[in-house]
Amino acid sequence: MNKPGLMELAGVAKSFRSADGAPRLILDGVNFALAEGEIVALLGKSGSGKSTLLRIIAGLIPADAGTAQYRGQPIVGPATGVAMVFQSFALFPWLTVQQNVELGLEAQGIAPSEREKRADAMLELMGLAGFGGALPRELSGGMRQRVGIARALVTNPDVLLMDEAFSALDVLTGETLRNDILDLWDSNRILTKGILIVSHNIEEAVMMADRIIILSSDPGRIRSEISIDMPRPRSADSVEVRGLIDEVYGLMTMRQPQSTVPGETTAMHLGYRLPETDVSRIEGVLDLLAGAPFNGRADLPKLAEETELADDDLFHTYEALSLLGLAHVDKGDITLTPLGQRYADADQALRQELFGQQVLMHVPLAARIRHQLEREPSGTSPEGPFIELLEEFLKADEAKRVLEVAVEWGRYGEVYEYDFHTGRLKLPDQEEE
Ligand SMILES: Nc1ncnc2c1ncn2[C@@H]1O[C@H](COP(=O)(O)OP(=O)(O)O)[C@@H](O)[C@H]1O
Ligand SMILES: [Mg+2]
Repeated sequence: MNKPGLMELAGVAKSFRSADGAPRLILDGVNFALAEGEIVALLGKSGSGKSTLLRIIAGLIPADAGTAQYRGQPIVGPATGVAMVFQSFALFPWLTVQQNVELGLEAQGIAPSEREKRADAMLELMGLAGFGGALPRELSGGMRQRVGIARALVTNPDVLLMDEAFSALDVLTGETLRNDILDLWDSNRILTKGILIVSHNIEEAVMMADRIIILSSDPGRIRSEISIDMPRPRSADSVEVRGLIDEVYGLMTMRQPQSTVPGETTAMHLGYRLPETDVSRIEGVLDLLAGAPFNGRADLPKLAEETELADDDLFHTYEALSLLGLAHVDKGDITLTPLGQRYADADQALRQELFGQQVLMHVPLAARIRHQLEREPSGTSPEGPFIELLEEFLKADEAKRVLEVAVEWGRYGEVYEYDFHTGRLKLPDQEEE
């Protein structure tokens, strides 16, 4: 394929300062191209840098390193020809629908009569005919986002960028709106040459895109790419779509390849970056998986539907289950291990015992804390030294979060106790005779 390029990013990196003032690498070595005629979906967990990448492409913020080009020219600010739709709609509340839509044209110096004509046509196209005089607050969320999209499309953008444009809407409204846009695109009723959507909704990406790109976290790098060669409109229940959703789920839950550089092993061995999920959620998902209709094995998207949790929260829970040896994830399926099955059948006391055993075995930070406590004559230790240890590899706030997870898991498994007032860890009380 040799389609002309619209957007081209090479080696893009971006850091932000975190709360403690230290720079944190958000994006690193990102190479990406958007060609004419394609819809690309960018998927990634929350915080992976999707919006940041989109803002660089939109010319709203500069990259720290690498090059970003739009039709062969460096991107140095918002380009005419590139329009963006935001999750929050970003409408001016004191302007009418018509005025909001005309805004983009005004900025381009287009005469009032022409503006009105084009805005009218766009309102009509977006199913907003008759709403021109309304104020945004008089409209439902779905209608407001129609205005957001009309405002972007009225300038006849070459490239349309959408950042979680459907996430704030209820499922049905989001689907309708997304189908309307695909319909305009597929029937060539808009002049837009390329669309980039950012999403954390896998089904949305599979339904819309010609190509899906998955961004890893910490820092964001492009981890995998899948081409979808399937005509639209696509049926959400078709075997092909379900299969692709499974495949993408599998790719997104895959543990990130860990570095094998010798000097970096300590951080890995400490089990830093524990999945941020609590025990009740881990057990909740495990119980759901063990029960009917799953009976120990589930298709991840089905499980997601059942739990009504966001994919993002679930990924952390899947990671925890697999880290603890209770389940394993493979190509969009999650299966309880024999231990996980035993866990599901166990009473409360046995559950805690099994949990503790697995934490000691698979979370080196917890094992290290336990070991340290056993060496202290008092059987106690302040948490400070463990945070400091983590801070050798992590930023202060991340180090704290990791310790919090290790503390919660360890307490539940009775590996150690924690005093929230003093911030001290201690060995569990001995059984009293
Ligand atoms: N202007 C900023 N200043 C500091 N940190 C930021 C800024 N914008 C984003 N971040 C941080 O960068 C990371 C990625 O953010 P974002 O691109 O919004 O992720 P996503 O859209 O994938 O959820 C987050 O940790 C966020 O807190
Ligand atoms: Mg975002």
